[in-house]
Amino acid sequence: MGHTQAELSSRPFVEFVHPEDRERTRAETAKLGEQGTDSVSFRNRYRTADGDYRWLEWNARAVADEQRIYATARDITIQQQAEQALEDAAAVLERTVRDRTEALQEARLEILLRLAVVAEYRDDDTHQHTERVGRTAALIARQLGLSDDAVALMRHAAPLHDIGKLGISDSILLKPGKLTPAEFGLVQEHVNIGCKILAEGKFEVLRLAQEIALSHHERWDGAGYPDGECGEQIPLSGRIVAVADVFDALTHDRPYKAAWPLEDAVDEIKELGGHHFDARVVQAFAALDHRSLLEPVEHYDLDLPAPPLTASTQSDSIGAHAWAMSSS
Ligand SMILES: [Fe+2]
Repeated sequence: MGHTQAELSSRPFVEFVHPEDRERTRAETAKLGEQGTDSVSFRNRYRTADGDYRWLEWNARAVADEQRIYATARDITIQQQAEQALEDAAAVLERTVRDRTEALQEARLEILLRLAVVAEYRDDDTHQHTERVGRTAALIARQLGLSDDAVALMRHAAPLHDIGKLGISDSILLKPGKLTPAEFGLVQEHVNIGCKILAEGKFEVLRLAQEIALSHHERWDGAGYPDGECGEQIPLSGRIVAVADVFDALTHDRPYKAAWPLEDAVDEIKELGGHHFDARVVQAFAALDHRSLLEPVEHYDLDLPAPPLTASTQSDSIGAHAWAMSSS
């Protein structure tokens, strides 16, 4: 370090230690006085004769009989610099991975959004129906006490519920007035078409979207389609979107009907609880601020985290992990 013996002996040891390391050094050496601690090791920056600092690794030992502390030091400046460089590189790598993951998330969500817009492109020139259904369904899910992950998945999966309408011809989809039974049968096919479009998705959000596409027209009393499932046979996700979808359809103009007043629409949903809809889902819906559900959706405006970027590990049943746990 370049100090003379006289210099070292004339001043306290800690004066040679970097000011930022003094407290830690004092604490370590103080341990030597404690019962059962006769040696300690620690690192600190130690001043050289020309005013620079070097990193030293100390091994100190107390000899009680002599009332002295013996210490040896090893210069680990290069090792310390290498460790710091490694730590910095790890931090940069971590930041890069985080940035890339976020970019990937954004791209994925953007694609989901565009896909939902495609689905409603022909029959909703404001392109807002699917987004409102996504928001309302997520709010119901939150009201039911589902996890943040499950709510976020719902927010992004529910807008795809009618993706199967891509396979329905304009002459039927845009027909003003009542559909014939045969035409209605064709419209009902949109749930199976949607299920096929979304089949074998690798990500939870797509698997949940598939589950919803297939089940959002089932009814609690078994009178829905395509399978006539009833009660809890119907996935919770489908039971939630059923309420959100019908509420939104009632409160907006359609080629075959004018929008209902808000209060009438809410009353109708409540009325249908327990037979058309799951009463528990209706109860959660009833607790929401209904007027706000009519407001335009600003790009994913629920203050929700993005859905988990995880591939589904389930191979035997449709449905996201978060939902599989919460919908039983
Ligand atoms: Fe539908």
